[in-house]
Amino acid sequence: MQILDGLAVSAHIKEQIKSEVATIKSKGGKTPHLAAILVGNNPASEAYVGSKVRTCSELGFGSTLLRFDSDMSEADLLAEVQKLNEDKDIDGILVQLPLPKHISENAVINAIHPDKDVDGFHPISQGKMLLGQDTFLPATPYGILLMLEYYGIDISGKHCVVIGRSNIVGSPMSVLLARNAHPGNATVTLTHSRTKDLKAMTLQADVIVAAIGKPKFLTSDMVKDGAIIIDVGINRIDDATRKSGSRLVGDVDFDAVAPKCSYITPVPKGVGPMTICGLMKNTLKASQIAR
Ligand code: GUN
Repeated sequence: MQILDGLAVSAHIKEQIKSEVATIKSKGGKTPHLAAILVGNNPASEAYVGSKVRTCSELGFGSTLLRFDSDMSEADLLAEVQKLNEDKDIDGILVQLPLPKHISENAVINAIHPDKDVDGFHPISQGKMLLGQDTFLPATPYGILLMLEYYGIDISGKHCVVIGRSNIVGSPMSVLLARNAHPGNATVTLTHSRTKDLKAMTLQADVIVAAIGKPKFLTSDMVKDGAIIIDVGINRIDDATRKSGSRLVGDVDFDAVAPKCSYITPVPKGVGPMTICGLMKNTLKASQIAR
């Protein structure tokens, strides 16, 4: 069993991006600039946005963090997005999800200019992705592809079972694994809460992508020997042995599943850092678009 080390892979990719940005700057080119919007103070969102902004400065990108109270109106948020759309210095716009219930996530995603949609959530980006056209890929599935590529894991012809059909991870992941590209060409089963006999599906899987948001959901009896396991979950559970009183676990029961696998991503330090790589690669790409 080999651990897929997201921290090591992301460090390698970040070095590549960093040197690319240094070269661009030395030639008088545009410094990539990411604008992140955080509405409210959800602790997980705070942590994710903080780490995205920190990575920008690590790589030599510019960044702007706009914070708003959770009672901000949808109209005001749309106006902020519009300002960023029109700002020539801003290359990428990220609105951290989830948003407060009174704000329509679709309205906000649709308001982001597709050329600045570094999360790859806009219908134009998702449509192009579906058609195999060049576009921004959603950061988490993109990061997973980068990780498979780094380790030389060939999924062509393999049976991939994706658990969870979110717009952010499960649905785009299923499209990307199946497309005629490298990595890709897999046979994909997209499973979800209405799937009958999930275990019968996962037992057939050469690759399982778990993106459900339920701690330790995937247990060892659901996994065949030699499977490749990609754990997208980041769940905080109580743990009295920790000073903080809690710890992070994935959607996979790691200790029980790992011995059966050929490869597995840990949580933390697996998919999480790769998501940030996907976002940074998208931001660099956005900065190369002439405005
Ligand atoms: N919330 C959870 N994951 C993501 C992500 O990749 N991007 C944004 N904007 N919000 C998220």
